[in-house]
Amino acid sequence: MDRYFIEFDDVTCIGCITAVEEKLSNLKESSLKKTDKSTGNSILESMLMKNQISKSLESFEGCCSSCQITIKTIKPITGKDDEIILSADDPNVLTKKQYKQALERIIAKEEVACSDYCVCKTTDIDRFEEFSEAPSFSSIFNLVEYLEKFGYLHFGMSVIDFGSGTGHDAFQIAPLIAPSQITGIDITPEMVDFAKKTAQKLNLPNAVFHQASNLMLVKPESQDLILVNNVFNLLSNKRDFLQQVRTCLKADGVLVMADEFTIDILPESLRNDPAFQCGGIADAQSLDFIITLCQENGFKVLREETIRTYEIKYNKKNYQLNSGILIFHN
Ligand SMILES: C[S@@+](CC[C@H](N)C(=O)[O-])C[C@H]1O[C@@H](n2cnc3c(N)ncnc32)[C@H](O)[C@@H]1O
Repeated sequence: MDRYFIEFDDVTCIGCITAVEEKLSNLKESSLKKTDKSTGNSILESMLMKNQISKSLESFEGCCSSCQITIKTIKPITGKDDEIILSADDPNVLTKKQYKQALERIIAKEEVACSDYCVCKTTDIDRFEEFSEAPSFSSIFNLVEYLEKFGYLHFGMSVIDFGSGTGHDAFQIAPLIAPSQITGIDITPEMVDFAKKTAQKLNLPNAVFHQASNLMLVKPESQDLILVNNVFNLLSNKRDFLQQVRTCLKADGVLVMADEFTIDILPESLRNDPAFQCGGIADAQSLDFIITLCQENGFKVLREETIRTYEIKYNKKNYQLNSGILIFHN
């Protein structure tokens, strides 16, 4: 039998991942070796040719009508299963793994929001010392209060919190816009489950959460505001994402982006260091770079504000960054 690695494009919910597993298990003259529960990507042993496998998975439907399951690649493999699943060159695999761990730490401290061990700093707990001069952003600045103060949040708006994490922004916004809905979207299934349970505990039925890695399932022109708080730096395809935001926003809709922005040039070694990847620092760009990128994608700047300047230490050198807020008009 030949072995194949089957990579799916965007399997978003647990039900669809289970459906993928079942479908592969039922393929004639094949046996399923392994499925990655976070991506749906699978390893299959089969007597079938690559194109026969593709054909039998064509127009395959998952558990719900909203998920679209498409195959990205099927490649013949050698080597150990674990190596292959983890080396599927999908940056989201690392993101999910690191944020799952970050959540476990938040839960251990019984906090709803990230504070001391803020997921925005680094997800490698042994290296917090390197960030000692950068106090957790969310402990010194409340983004939702800021948006309310400047009139960006009001009753009746529909809002998306993209990369909603534990939901601490969404839970503050929900009462301000009720009975309209705030939809939290996050790639990490554990974050989504945690936020759903917290919404129930807090009795906030208008705060709903879904697992997804993009905005493709959101109805076009349906949203008044899309919040992207410490997430944009993590996205592998920023231009695609900006186009999705434009599609989902109403004509007068607003994009709010809060993130880390570089002042000094960061060394390649830091940018490739997994400890910085989920802290929003590895892929941080200058404020001007992000503004230009958004303008190139059709957005107009409404507000631009630097909230703090701080330094991180890396290999005995100091690097300055800003935490800032950008607000754009569609
Ligand atoms: C730094 S945390 C920010 C959480 C929240 N916005 C806050 O400020 O507390 C980043 C979050 O983005 C999520 N994330 C990363 N990449 C994503 C993607 N492509 N799609 C959706 N969520 C993503 C992570 O799972 C994590 O929960």
